[in-house]
Amino acid sequence: MRGIERGFTKNKKLMNIAKMSLLSLALLFPLAGCGGNEASSTEAAKGDSDAGYQKLSIKLSHVASDNTPKGLAALKFKELVESESGGNIEVKVYPSGQLYGDNDEIEAVQANNVQIIIPSAAKLSGFEETFEIFDLPFMFKNEEHLRAFEDGEGGQELLATLDEYGMKGLSFWPNGFKHITNNKVAVDDPSDVKGLKVRTHGGQIINEVYETMGASSTKIAFNETYQALQLGTIDGQENSIVNIETQKYGEVQNHLTLTSHARSEYAVVTNKQWWDGLEPKTQELLTKAMKEATNEGRNQVEKLETEAIEKIKSEGKMAIVELTDEQKEAFKQAIQPVFDKWAQKMNQDIINKAIEAGN
Ligand code: LMR
Repeated sequence: MRGIERGFTKNKKLMNIAKMSLLSLALLFPLAGCGGNEASSTEAAKGDSDAGYQKLSIKLSHVASDNTPKGLAALKFKELVESESGGNIEVKVYPSGQLYGDNDEIEAVQANNVQIIIPSAAKLSGFEETFEIFDLPFMFKNEEHLRAFEDGEGGQELLATLDEYGMKGLSFWPNGFKHITNNKVAVDDPSDVKGLKVRTHGGQIINEVYETMGASSTKIAFNETYQALQLGTIDGQENSIVNIETQKYGEVQNHLTLTSHARSEYAVVTNKQWWDGLEPKTQELLTKAMKEATNEGRNQVEKLETEAIEKIKSEGKMAIVELTDEQKEAFKQAIQPVFDKWAQKMNQDIINKAIEAGN
């Protein structure tokens, strides 16, 4: 099936090839001449204005719905940038993969065809595998733990690893803890997952989580997942409760288990050369707006999660399993070997800072 890539090894190789070719392209063609994209070329658009900001149009693309922590944070960013710049800086927000999807958004930002993307951090693991830290099973205890890591040295060190690939990490935005849906079985024990074909956002760790439980996992682009579930190409998927609700997976899935086994967290990524070419005043404004948009996303998570679970319950399409502490412990025990293996393989400084952030 088009858009479905089976096996992370293949995916990682492709990422590396894409990475190399994009870097060569970036060296050959400086950004100012990139695709005649005047709207996003700072050179073409600079100019004085009443508010003193350069004229600029920024494209921001993401794959989730507007009514999600990411969607609302993106709209907040637009609102702040446009009002603070006196209308000189425009932010065009493209949600739901309207402009770019999982398979092409990273290449698009590297080529400066889009200025801001917000992929799941794990989707950047072809560049630095520590971006899969959020998929380490039961690594982060709660929102406070995540914020302390992301705002601290460990999170900032992780974002900075993108610099050498022509990108710049601006922030982390929240999605939520991940849960499992499927249309075969009520899952209340890791053994129930055995034999299921599960969609993930990709990455070695999360794929091993499912392998360890005897399931097979497949990377499928987010905006193609509903169809894959509907066609029965896969039996289930894992995601935040807000994504599960806004993507209407209940229409094609019978069971939902609230496992919270890993975290879905985003990295906000821009094109480094484009960013470095902005006027300092513009960078300042965007940095400030990004901070406030990050807070907006964080403030929305709990509220949106509560609304989403209530909606799923009231629709009654999926049977919901809420795990007891004992049942949750069984999942922890089952997938602990994945944590032990990968926590040692990733950047140790960042891992240690992530653990410290929870103390
Ligand atoms: C996923 O692919 O599961 C998520 O990253 C989608 C998203 O961006 O919310």
